[in-house]
Amino acid sequence: MPAQRSALALVPRPTKSTVRPGLFTLDAGTALHIGAGAEPAADLLRTLLAPATGLPLPSSPEGQFTLTLDPGLAGLGEEGYGLTVAPHAVLLRAAHLTGLLRGIQTIRQLLPPQALSASPRPGFRWELPCVEITDLPRHPWRGAMLDVARHFQPVAYLRRYVDLLALHKIGVFHLHLTDDQGWRMPVSAYPKLTEIGGRRAESLVGPAGGDVYDGVPHGGSYTRAELAGLVGYAAARGVTVMPEIEMPGHVRAALAAYPGLGNRPDRTLDVWTRWGVCDTVLGVHDEVLDFCRTVLHEVMDVFPSPYLHIGGEECPTSEWTDSAAARERALAQGLSSPAALHGWFLGRMGDFLVRHGRRPVAWAETGAELPLDFTVMTWRDAAHTLTAARRGHPVVSAYHRATYLDYAQSQDPGEPPAQPGDVVDLRAVHDHDPVPEGAERSAAERVSGTQAQLWTEFVRTPEQIEYLTYPRLCALADRAWSGATDWADFRTRLDAHTARLDALGVTYHP
Ligand code: ACM
Repeated sequence: MPAQRSALALVPRPTKSTVRPGLFTLDAGTALHIGAGAEPAADLLRTLLAPATGLPLPSSPEGQFTLTLDPGLAGLGEEGYGLTVAPHAVLLRAAHLTGLLRGIQTIRQLLPPQALSASPRPGFRWELPCVEITDLPRHPWRGAMLDVARHFQPVAYLRRYVDLLALHKIGVFHLHLTDDQGWRMPVSAYPKLTEIGGRRAESLVGPAGGDVYDGVPHGGSYTRAELAGLVGYAAARGVTVMPEIEMPGHVRAALAAYPGLGNRPDRTLDVWTRWGVCDTVLGVHDEVLDFCRTVLHEVMDVFPSPYLHIGGEECPTSEWTDSAAARERALAQGLSSPAALHGWFLGRMGDFLVRHGRRPVAWAETGAELPLDFTVMTWRDAAHTLTAARRGHPVVSAYHRATYLDYAQSQDPGEPPAQPGDVVDLRAVHDHDPVPEGAERSAAERVSGTQAQLWTEFVRTPEQIEYLTYPRLCALADRAWSGATDWADFRTRLDAHTARLDALGVTYHP
């Protein structure tokens, strides 16, 4: 009974599902009965099913397939939904549109995997197994970060990336837009950010510390229209694009474009061609604060995301110690040392975002160094999640040993080049509970969820991105949505789910 098997093989696993006898067949006669406000969900269903099925799915008040907003399901939250498939009717209900969008991904997974194909599959019977599903996520923050600064990807690929996130009910696409090696977002007041900062002369071959370069220039940047279009495309799939603009470290590309933003304006710098932590950082004079606010203004114009990420990690403070201007600034602000300018700087920018109705996000180095307005991403040590949550921060667990997809997936010497040091295998990702052991209730409630990170020093192509991302992101999505801890059950569902990835042409790790 293939239909029944697929009902049990959803990734992520639904909160509650019951399989019933029978099938509902979508065919040329199937019409959609669309409740008020549910039209965007119907549009998404048609968009997703059209390429393979060619089904028109017209609207009709007599339609057997109902999509409706139902305030009675408010208890399921922003993303929860109820789905009933019976032999002659389908009913998808949610209190909010996002819930309907999540339910549509479930419907997609309930169909034969060929329904996910990008090319027409005539002659298939598009059957849904009869089920009763009630589903809502354990964690609201289920994200994936893609670094397009180290290696640029065209926006057409970012759209596909979003499609794959949506399939797995991942709701946050964290777009890492700037770093030492490239600046990818245009800012109208500072055109050289992309003209100069968007291109580097060559790239280090192999990990940080080596001295072999490829001799191949690398560059690229998005237009404002491309980014705005991506935001709309993602929103239609229930995905929020959260941009990240790094400061006050990881800014070498910006300093190459505008040396006056640094601590030694007399010096010309290249867009960095190495990997690792660069010791050139932003200065702390007024011009720099104005620059950052202008950049963030434009970022807010393009990205409606309530959350904006301003980096904050790996910021060596030796340039500030060596700079008379920075030492004066520290003194004037009553700081104990130039190193304390790091927290001061991020605090100023966090305040700016809060005043504009946004929520600042930063990487947490220790879990204890940022103003409480910040949502923090704890990445270095699993213990930092608890430290930050106990301090009162909303926390997203980005613990590197469970969520960094730039580490190899196995010890196999045939694995592609990866961040050296650790192996993050599929099981490590699925085993990772974003809520740390020992968290009391108040701290546990501050853990919003988790997300995957793909830093791209060693990752140049979409095929490589998907090899590293899948199936590990399936595991993260499963754990974060359903809280499912049963590894064997996940593996069984994943075996069926790979047929969906195959239909989508995903070059996943076997
Ligand atoms: C990081 O890994 N740079 C947050």
